[in-house]
Amino acid sequence: MAEREPVVSIRDVSKTYATGFEALKHVDLDIHRGEIFALLGPNGAGKTTLISIVCGIVNASSGTVLAAGHDIVREFRAARSLIGLVPQELSTDTFESVWSTLRFSRGLFGKPPDDKHLERVLRDLSLWDKKDAKIMTLSGGMKRRVLIAKALAHEPQILFLDEPTAGVDVELRHDMWEMVRRLREQGTTIILTTHYIEEAEEMADRIGVIRRGELIVVEDKRTLMRKLGSKQLAIQLQAPLDGIPQGLSDLPLTLSEDGHSLVYTFDTQADDTGIAPLLRRLHEQGIDFKDLHSSETSLEDIFVSLVRTPA
Ligand SMILES: Nc1ncnc2c1ncn2[C@@H]1O[C@H](COP(=O)(O)OP(=O)(O)OP(=O)(O)O)[C@@H](O)[C@H]1O
Ligand SMILES: [Mg+2]
Repeated sequence: MAEREPVVSIRDVSKTYATGFEALKHVDLDIHRGEIFALLGPNGAGKTTLISIVCGIVNASSGTVLAAGHDIVREFRAARSLIGLVPQELSTDTFESVWSTLRFSRGLFGKPPDDKHLERVLRDLSLWDKKDAKIMTLSGGMKRRVLIAKALAHEPQILFLDEPTAGVDVELRHDMWEMVRRLREQGTTIILTTHYIEEAEEMADRIGVIRRGELIVVEDKRTLMRKLGSKQLAIQLQAPLDGIPQGLSDLPLTLSEDGHSLVYTFDTQADDTGIAPLLRRLHEQGIDFKDLHSSETSLEDIFVSLVRTPA
């Protein structure tokens, strides 16, 4: 049973900042051990706030969070030592070298020195040749990689990446995806936020969409992709209908409010779209149409419509 237990369990978490702003509203979320979870949402949705609460940087106004069974408030040290955080904001303009920053970071979580591990981390991030450089002398993309190295220094079970690929070039982005996959293979659970839909498509096992402090969708990526992969065929009717005729009730049809068009939803990945039999059956039912047009929804469309719809 143990492996079925969520590695992070967020229960009814709300956050109201001192300004009175309600940044999170009753968020419930379980993260499964070993998954890659992508949190999507527009600017200001509450992604960083949620991550900061799990990492103990921001206090929740109410609700509880467990990390591997440890309450993040009452058992802060135990919980925090299991977590690695790559923050969204770069605050790394220090005179320290990459190497000493990493060693210090590992020590901070009570882990004994392990230079072999740190070397591996730096090599994986193509930072080994910069190990003695002062962090302030590195480029933006390199600083971001240092933040990742720092988060991995104490071998966390759970890794939070807040906008990990913002401002990094395409090649590095792909390298980072590779690294994230490798970490997952080694058993690390990964929670990332991103503005790049393709990043979520590429990486995530599950996707959560957050809008104005509310988690509005949590779905397996494949399920979501199936929904994205759907197409609609709108059939403009000669004469309006009152309802969907009995003889067509087994089909994925909806009737527009004015009764003037039928919308048929089908799966673009399927071998057979079912359009030919649909048209044949319309004919059998004596339903004439004057026009047909099809449209496709992308992940982007779904995402945009989800976050735009009024609450
Ligand atoms: N310390 C704070 N005091 C008051 N309001 C805050 C504070 N920190 C964040 N907020 C507000 O809470 C909301 C959520 O912010 P948050 O940083 O969690 O968003 P986000 O989803 O990470 O956005 P982005 O995609 O831009 O990173 C925003 O409206 C923000 O202005
Ligand atoms: Mg943020």
